[in-house]
Amino acid sequence: MPISYKTQLLPADAAGIALAVQYLKEGVPFALPTETVYGIAADAANDAAVRAVFAAKGRPQDNPLIVHIADLAQLEGIAAAVPPRAQKLAAAFWPGPFTMVLPRGPRVCDAATAGLDTVGVRMPSHPVVQAVIRASGVAFAAPSANLSGRPSPTTAADTLADMDGRLPLILDGGPCAVGVESTVVSLTGERPLLLRPGAVTKEQMERVLGEEVALSGAILDKLQPGQAARSPGMKYKHYAPKAELTLVKGSLAAFERYAAAHAAPGVWALCFAGEGKALPLPSIEYGSEADAAEQARCLFAALRALDAHGAETVYVRCPAQTGVALAVYNRLLRAAAFRVVQV
Ligand code: TXA
Ligand code: MG
Repeated sequence: MPISYKTQLLPADAAGIALAVQYLKEGVPFALPTETVYGIAADAANDAAVRAVFAAKGRPQDNPLIVHIADLAQLEGIAAAVPPRAQKLAAAFWPGPFTMVLPRGPRVCDAATAGLDTVGVRMPSHPVVQAVIRASGVAFAAPSANLSGRPSPTTAADTLADMDGRLPLILDGGPCAVGVESTVVSLTGERPLLLRPGAVTKEQMERVLGEEVALSGAILDKLQPGQAARSPGMKYKHYAPKAELTLVKGSLAAFERYAAAHAAPGVWALCFAGEGKALPLPSIEYGSEADAAEQARCLFAALRALDAHGAETVYVRCPAQTGVALAVYNRLLRAAAFRVVQV
């Protein structure tokens, strides 16, 4: 059971950051903004503090957390080795929405890695994260600040909706600029392996490395029973609103016909910007069809808005599957429990 708190929602100004630094040093988890999504932070070396993060989220203990650092010197002790590929990728994409899985170093507790011999490390660009780590000198483990299974929060209000009473502090830094969680790439195998797509794309990584980055099968497919997950997070139901979602692949005209045939009370559409008014059912929009970064920024808030409206069944206009859109598609596939129809 998580500890029960009266949750304070404070601006991420000097006073708010000072309180966060105090909690970090005392081993008390709190929520803060990053450029991707809001996270719940605890000292990556403090096993009890990290276990309290799992309790606040209701997260399974076998799903490891990402360790957040503010500069390259902090990698020492967190990763046991930084292979040449990792050095190239860090130079290109840090600070930013980019996580590398590396051999685990001694300064990470067992709870943070779920006992694995590898560790996910990210250097965020968000000024609040940078300020908290620099002022405390503490690298922190942080998962997204949603209740386990729910869409990640991209605003302080969405964080409060999930974490009210479960954390003492939420720092409000406004809406997140990226909106989907960081890209996760494993560099512990023979070849780089993309475990979770994000704003740093497979194509961008391949340009930096001059070699192919393999896509984990779990990005586009359901794990088969008995199949091991390379990224433990992939085996859980994720990003799920209460409504039952279906991804609808095909043209806008075909989507309109499909939606018309399925219109009923409680049935909604999740569509691209500007499409809603022509549809024969209520809808939420999640960014322009041509702008995947905007879709990423809007997606999780749109999923939460559907719940707020009491949507029961949702038909979703399907995004592309390359570049940043692959991240949007991956989250929607999971939110839809892999229900996809072609029209
Ligand atoms: O953008 C983000 O990465 C956000 C913000 C708060 O930084 N954090 C985040 O954390 O999304 P979380 O815990 O919700 O997702 C971490 C993902 C999970 O899918 C987990 O399985 C994977 O990273 N992961 C972490 N450590 C790993 C490891 N050692 N090996 C493989 N996968 C790992
Ligand atoms: Mg998460």
